[in-house]
Amino acid sequence: MEPVETPAPPHAPESEWHSLVEGRMSRRKLLAGAAAAGVAAAVPLHITTSRAAGATSSHRGTVTPTLEDRLVLPRGFRADLIAPWGSDIGGGHTAGFNHDWIGYYPIDLLERGYDLSLPHRGFSPRRASSREGILVINHEYTNPLFVSGYSGTGAKTAQQIADEQAAVGMSVVRVRRGRTGRWAVVGSDDTHARRIDATTPCLLTGPAAGIDGGPQAVGSLANCSGGQTPWGTALSCEENFAFFSQPAPAGDGWDPAVYGRRHYGWVVEVDPWAPDAAPRKHTAMGRFRHENVAIGVAADRTVVAYMGDDLADSCVYKFVADRKLSKASDREANLGILEAGKLYVADFANGAWVLLDLAAQARLRDAKDPVTGAPLFATQADVLADARAAALLVGGTPVDRPEDIEIDPRDGSVFVALTNNTGHGNFHGQIVRIIETDGNHAATTFGWDIFAVGGPQSGFSSPDNLIFDGHGALWMVTDISSSRVGKGIYAFQGNNALFMLPTRGRDAGTAFQFASGPVDCEMTGPAWTPDGETLFLSVQHPGELSTSAATPTSRWPNGGTDVPRPSSVAITGPWDRFRDGR
Ligand code: FEO
Ligand code: CA
Ligand code: CA
Repeated sequence: MEPVETPAPPHAPESEWHSLVEGRMSRRKLLAGAAAAGVAAAVPLHITTSRAAGATSSHRGTVTPTLEDRLVLPRGFRADLIAPWGSDIGGGHTAGFNHDWIGYYPIDLLERGYDLSLPHRGFSPRRASSREGILVINHEYTNPLFVSGYSGTGAKTAQQIADEQAAVGMSVVRVRRGRTGRWAVVGSDDTHARRIDATTPCLLTGPAAGIDGGPQAVGSLANCSGGQTPWGTALSCEENFAFFSQPAPAGDGWDPAVYGRRHYGWVVEVDPWAPDAAPRKHTAMGRFRHENVAIGVAADRTVVAYMGDDLADSCVYKFVADRKLSKASDREANLGILEAGKLYVADFANGAWVLLDLAAQARLRDAKDPVTGAPLFATQADVLADARAAALLVGGTPVDRPEDIEIDPRDGSVFVALTNNTGHGNFHGQIVRIIETDGNHAATTFGWDIFAVGGPQSGFSSPDNLIFDGHGALWMVTDISSSRVGKGIYAFQGNNALFMLPTRGRDAGTAFQFASGPVDCEMTGPAWTPDGETLFLSVQHPGELSTSAATPTSRWPNGGTDVPRPSSVAITGPWDRFRDGR
């Protein structure tokens, strides 16, 4: 989802970040200890569209760019619909709207434990079930035109608001792969089936738990991407939370006395194995436009979470937990890990993680409100609740809208998708690779380089969600905004798409297209089963630009006279053939 703030004016002066990127690329600096030689050499030198616009589009892959209103996959692949909006997910619940992040939890996960070498499989051991599991699916926001029938003018009725509040949050749903190979929801499972929505009681934890009347909080909003923990929980990230309490039609017009509290904008932990447990919002991890979390575990079992703040000129963060990972059988201890720790922001100019701590940083203690002259941060809770302001004060580097972050299972390097920053002339985005000092996730210094650059020369624009596969390739979906898809400098890609990018060898950094999404959608939330044979994916906001429910711009997936229905899908097919034949 695009941020709600007005973007910086076009043709603004180049930013510090752009100077750093240009410098890094022109030096073609190879990172110590990394198999990055092929990566760096594959990177084109121009990041701005003003220079790349004339480049010839160099598309690769078996699916070609298209504006068709369907999910296009390579020959031999199939997508089974999972929990389309409004469908039964068991337990008397129905699926929410605008599906985003997906976590797959094998049904036997708690018996199998975890495998720390498999962050790209959500730490699920290889032998855990790839035929039956629990999905946690985020529902980021609604489209009132379809969800509540709101016409777009005037105030909403209480019923319209209630309908919208019931369509966000998360779905927890059991799925199974049948004898025919098809995936389907197990609607008879009312033990695990659950909806968390904008009214579900939640709990704030950590240093800012008491903020604005906490620790009780009402519901979860703006659940964008997320992450999985080794102890089998889901981390759901609250991104564009400000939108919901702003007056309609610009915002959703929900009660600002509730939804304007600083109870949103956190990382929310949900235990899919405890359907009655309240979701917990971990304030120690900071409050900003949380896009995602990628959990890494250091050699000494320190648990680290990499996170991005999806707003133009915002930062990349790292949370280092105080408590180390216990063995899988001590799940109770592990469930408390994200409640206490240190929050850092990335300073790319100096390759340093800077601590966001009031006691340690004079610049935070000295900061004053420009209007009242009062201290900007009276307590550490204030620092955590406005982490973006604190981050910029201590030298965090504003970058070009961090979307997803994933850890390379082969070497522990950390890949960050920077989707674009049109205000600074970065129209197509990049993927940045961070390499922690000594490969230690808890290190306070790092190196970095550019892995891939969007634009016609690479065939993709606006990278968003990422996931590694078991063959060393990075899979990436794009989020060109619907208003730009198929037009001008974005025409080369067609609809939003899914690409595979090898990270090593001759094709390192080259994007091969695997899928094209229906009209006005972005695809989100890719997640593999432990055997790598099924890729779960969400199709978010098809038909987003519709101005009438009677004549929507998309009717995916059902066609006929139906309205568009965001949904997740389970993709299966000849994966080896795609990899070998690309
Ligand atoms: Fe919800 Fe930044 O994507
Ligand atoms: Ca996203
Ligand atoms: Ca991801």
